[in-house]
Amino acid sequence: MSVLLNRTKSFICTKSFCKSLLVRNYSDVPKKFKTFDEVIAQRREEARRSLVVQVNSESSFNELYNYCSTHATVKDVHHYKNFNDEHFMLMEFASEDNVKEVLQTCCFHQKDADIMASKSPFVWFRATPGNKNKYEATTKSLAVKDGNNKVDEDELFGNLMECHTVSDQIQMLYDKTKLNDVGIRLRFMLARQLEVMMSSLYANIAIYPFGSSVNGFGKMGCDLDLVLTNNVNYELLDTNRRLVYQEKKCEGGRSPWQRHMELVGTLLELRVAGAARVQKILNARVPIVKYSHELTSLDCDLCYNNMSGVYMSELLWLLGERDQRVRPLTFAVRRWARTVSLTNPHPGRWITNFPLTLMVLFFLQQRRHDGFILPSFNKLVAAAGKDDIRIAEESVNCTFLRDLNKLPADSSRSEDNLETLLYHFFEYYAQFDFQEKAISIVEGVPIRKPNSLPLYIVNPLEQALNVSRNVSFEECERLKMEVRNAAWHLEAVLDGKKTEDWGLLGLLEKQSTRGVKKLLRVGHNHRLVSVKDLFAEDEEPKRKTDQQIDAS
Ligand code: GTP
Ligand code: MG
Repeated sequence: MSVLLNRTKSFICTKSFCKSLLVRNYSDVPKKFKTFDEVIAQRREEARRSLVVQVNSESSFNELYNYCSTHATVKDVHHYKNFNDEHFMLMEFASEDNVKEVLQTCCFHQKDADIMASKSPFVWFRATPGNKNKYEATTKSLAVKDGNNKVDEDELFGNLMECHTVSDQIQMLYDKTKLNDVGIRLRFMLARQLEVMMSSLYANIAIYPFGSSVNGFGKMGCDLDLVLTNNVNYELLDTNRRLVYQEKKCEGGRSPWQRHMELVGTLLELRVAGAARVQKILNARVPIVKYSHELTSLDCDLCYNNMSGVYMSELLWLLGERDQRVRPLTFAVRRWARTVSLTNPHPGRWITNFPLTLMVLFFLQQRRHDGFILPSFNKLVAAAGKDDIRIAEESVNCTFLRDLNKLPADSSRSEDNLETLLYHFFEYYAQFDFQEKAISIVEGVPIRKPNSLPLYIVNPLEQALNVSRNVSFEECERLKMEVRNAAWHLEAVLDGKKTEDWGLLGLLEKQSTRGVKKLLRVGHNHRLVSVKDLFAEDEEPKRKTDQQIDAS
């Protein structure tokens, strides 16, 4: 019964949601764009004013709120649970001083009291037994906002079934699965936690999230990429100052930063609350430390000074901001690629989400019958001013226009809807000459391939590099086959046929489960069939291992 009620509820929501989409207009909506730097600075500032407090249950909130309110002004509260079903409150205060005042009242676990204790913005609230009801009336005005959990797959597919058009399905998938505000806040809290710990050892350290956590293409539960870098303080480099700190000269042959990252890994093991399963991968071109953060259930990759990765995230974010169709379309493509096992959570000879995203951006740069959707990267470079100059490590020039308000509006912006775009995306790559041509968002048109690698996608910031150099011939062939299959599937919808697996459903459903699902539907109202088991997204893919590929 409750399932039916939930379904009915979601059906009603879906209908009104879809109605709102019918009037969607894709042409230039005058909008004041924030820059990436502004967004990041605001999130970092928010993290400095926040604490993550572990509580016994959601009902501890009132007591916690009252406790904090006697020391500070609570601005906002979010509740979430980690994978161990432990409860946390992400508390945002009015000022950094507020956080300091609350932390002044903190103590250490008894057993850590000597030399082991370390301070961090992750704390634990000791509730007083029997105090829960005492605070009930005081906090009515401040609603606790829930959520760091992935959307329920059953609910998602139920909603997708109810949509009227494929465009609505694509928009629904995006709205329901994109990284939400709590997810973003927690990622910045993790960066803050490391910064607090490391600033006692390093004078100018800054830690930034990058990749899908900030580029606008992240889904709920995506991994957290972190970069550790120098926050250059020019005052401290003033050559007129008389007193200079003694320099620490690193001895030994290995690169100092390899050794610093080794230390960071050890500090994560010994000093960072919640950090577990630390892995140090120090011989890679970019040394990296991987760890799981148990208090937030996030998997993190921390690297050193990879600023070109941050600027790349900025570029992707900008192009996503430029047109409201870019992110929903990319979500549909990324999710489809995962379903057909073109992408895989483990590194290997297959394409990953980042080059796949460049393929979507490139497609949107192609001329359509009624205009373009995205400008080429060259246009952003040509429009750059003095403030946009950025040089990353190893002299990589990352200069391009940062302020989208300065980019002239396109006189002819394509009005194609998401359904048409998704179909044409598959059709475009079904016909693409992968043998001779490279994909390059720099020019926005196919260019001649400089070598015979099966898939060539130009890195826009280091144009001599191919971001899909790892992709094998076999995987590229599968990519070509899958885009053809997807185009055929969508063609049927464009022809007006609405089969059981119409639209996105047929693209996001694993082929191995298709037969099972049909059986389940016989004699049932399909809205009541549980699809959870059939669409389990993170099921281990059945595919060849590297060794098997080598052997063949
Ligand atoms: P998911 O983690 O799969 O959700 O996507 P992601 O965009 O975070 O991709 P990934 O973790 O593989 O890479 C993180 C970020 O590093 C990307 O978003 C890019 O900004 C950047 N990046 C990845 N590969 C390259 C590369 O070859 N060159 C450069 N300069 N940056 C890269
Ligand atoms: Mg990532």
